[in-house]
Amino acid sequence: MSIPNRKRTAAGAQVILLLMMVAVVLPLALMTGVTDRGAAEAATEVTPEAVSAESTAESVDCAPASLAALQAGYQARLDDFAAAIEADTDTALGALYDVGTAYREIALACGYLPADFGQLTAGTDVPRILAALENLNADPMRGQSLYNGVEPSAGGVVGCSGCHQNAEVAPLTEGTWTRWDEQRRPLAQFADYSFEHYMIESIVLPQAYIAPGYEPNMPPIYGDQLSYQDLADLIAYLAGQDQLLE
Ligand code: HEC
Repeated sequence: MSIPNRKRTAAGAQVILLLMMVAVVLPLALMTGVTDRGAAEAATEVTPEAVSAESTAESVDCAPASLAALQAGYQARLDDFAAAIEADTDTALGALYDVGTAYREIALACGYLPADFGQLTAGTDVPRILAALENLNADPMRGQSLYNGVEPSAGGVVGCSGCHQNAEVAPLTEGTWTRWDEQRRPLAQFADYSFEHYMIESIVLPQAYIAPGYEPNMPPIYGDQLSYQDLADLIAYLAGQDQLLE
């Protein structure tokens, strides 16, 4: 989970801002006789665009020192807030909003779970999902509705049954738990897996293990679509699929 690019971008943005200050603001201040520090700084206030471009970075280096440096960078963007809010309210509030969003994304990317985390998209970090699900109550009935596409997941209708009701296409829904118990669990690679662990991996990283007799055709998109709660409910539903195998 590290992206050296992010820091380079931050440094780059600061250099560009500095150049802008020298190239634009100084001559302007000299020409117009504006020497007031606040006004000069307000003119070079960080734009929301500059902040949000960075806040969309995909991953964050979560080492404490890197996080502290990142946080200091964002904090610096609001150093001139008092002047900026006087000069241009909309732009200043935009920057405030974007820095807030960036903080939130960084905390989430580094594993923070807020009180309402059940509604957040689960992603593909299997150990983290496994730990998070221990804090949620699961509803197998809702899981069934999600699975059958009767109810939408956080990211829209998933309709797992579309494939899993036809044994030619995908392992049947019926017997999902029994297959785990009798056929997957005994394999060395699953020695330290629980049913939940195997389910999470099968759903968010379907290509990690391909069920014998099938093609790797399950789309690797569900980490982006399912919330933690969706996953918990789906797994509770599948845990009840303990029919005898034929
Ligand atoms: C486009 C077809 C398709 C869709 C849609 C699909 N799957 Fe699958 N799934 C497969 C195939 C094919 C396999 C077997 C190959 C593999 O292991 O990846 C599989 C394997 C699985 C397994 C492992 C089963 C076992 O016996 O080990 C689970 C669990 C699973 N899918 C759950 C889901 C859930 C939950 C959804 C909906 C969120 C879903 N699938 C949507 C095609 C699909």
